[in-house]
Amino acid sequence: MYRNVAKLTARAAAASSKRSLSALASAARPTLAKNQSVAGVRGIKKINFGGVEELVHERADWPREKLLEYFKNDTLALIGYGSQGYGQGLNLRDNGLNVIIGVRKNGASWKAAIEDGWVPGENLFDVSEAINKGTIVMNLLSDAAQSETWPSVAPLLTEGKTLYFSHGFSPVFSNLTNVVPPKNIDVILAAPKGSGRTVRSLFKEGRGINSSYAVWNDVTGKAEEKAIALAVAVGSGYVYETTFEKEVNSDLYGERGCLMGGIHGMFLAQYEVLRENGHSPSEAFNETVEEATQSLYPLVGKYGMDYMYDACSTTARRGALDWYPIFKDALKPVFQDLYASVKDGSETQRSLDFNSQPDYREKLEEELKVIRAMEIWQVGKEVRKLRPENN
Ligand SMILES: NC(=O)c1ccc[n+]([C@@H]2O[C@H](COP(=O)([O-])OP(=O)(O)OC[C@H]3O[C@@H](n4cnc5c(N)ncnc54)[C@H](OP(=O)(O)O)[C@@H]3O)[C@@H](O)[C@H]2O)c1
Repeated sequence: MYRNVAKLTARAAAASSKRSLSALASAARPTLAKNQSVAGVRGIKKINFGGVEELVHERADWPREKLLEYFKNDTLALIGYGSQGYGQGLNLRDNGLNVIIGVRKNGASWKAAIEDGWVPGENLFDVSEAINKGTIVMNLLSDAAQSETWPSVAPLLTEGKTLYFSHGFSPVFSNLTNVVPPKNIDVILAAPKGSGRTVRSLFKEGRGINSSYAVWNDVTGKAEEKAIALAVAVGSGYVYETTFEKEVNSDLYGERGCLMGGIHGMFLAQYEVLRENGHSPSEAFNETVEEATQSLYPLVGKYGMDYMYDACSTTARRGALDWYPIFKDALKPVFQDLYASVKDGSETQRSLDFNSQPDYREKLEEELKVIRAMEIWQVGKEVRKLRPENN
């Protein structure tokens, strides 16, 4: 099938380049009619996403000078310097904003921050000192640590400050996390849709990551505007409106489903059946993972599912059209169970229980070791070496 796909991809592209290019151009990004910009407000767009209109804010509305003016009286105290702390913190610093970092002294993050040029006593402090100095407190501790440290953080969140999160986890599941934000301050969220490394690398390339924003408390009447401005300041290109609840439910659901857990389970099931039926490891891997990630999924990502079908052989197309509803029907109850488990807090409880253990890193490593040792991923290591770019 791999050969067929390659051939047909080329043929389809050549034979119908005109049709497909215009189809692709529209498939590659959501439809934005010429007159859909909201009048008078540069950068805000009403976009029709498959028949549903949504407002999307864009970086163009918050150029650097406007950000500097908007936050001129603020000290952004960014607490935690892990994946997001690194990406958002450096982007804020490069944008010229007054940002300081708060982490526990002499931990891994303290050392990492110094390596990135943050200076103890100048813009690097321990957590409580940074919160005391900040007007906007950006809580980027790990979700388990947000819960663990809340008893010492909460009393420092005095009137006039703003509390910022990048995940709805802590306040939405407050019955489990005990994180109950004070009612007398603005509480906002900007959640980049990607790791902190990507937040940073896209910013350095002059692009921006997609993020969502939400408001939990609006005491000043400016919470929404502040959330959008901060989302742009930390490196977002497009900013989509959501709520804390929707953000956390979709995020926990997605990573357990198609983004990570679901796709891993599907790869394993397909690979095992091929191996049980006498196929060699390389054949099973190529037909399960390599062709997916190297040939077909990039087409879905770039141009859409219909284009991928169109680019495949008639045989492949017929089979996939017949089997996708069967997979959907088999998997939908699993996704329904998963969503219920996210919504009722079971996934949050599980995450808190596991990630609050002092030896959680070692335990995680044990589980990753099991994955690393699986035949399928061992085969992957060898197959990757044979890719043209690695020869
Ligand atoms: N990672 C992502 O892809 C991503 C994407 C979007 C949103 N988010 C959200 O962004 C937030 C931060 O996530 P992250 O992935 O950047 O976190 P992370 O990489 O796990 O960062 C952990 C930070 O928390 C600190 N920490 C851990 N336990 C602590 C404790 N008991 N006391 C004080 N500090 C402690 C660590 O400091 P030490 O080095 O001293 O341990 C480190 O600075 C979370 O709400 C997360 O859901 C993450």
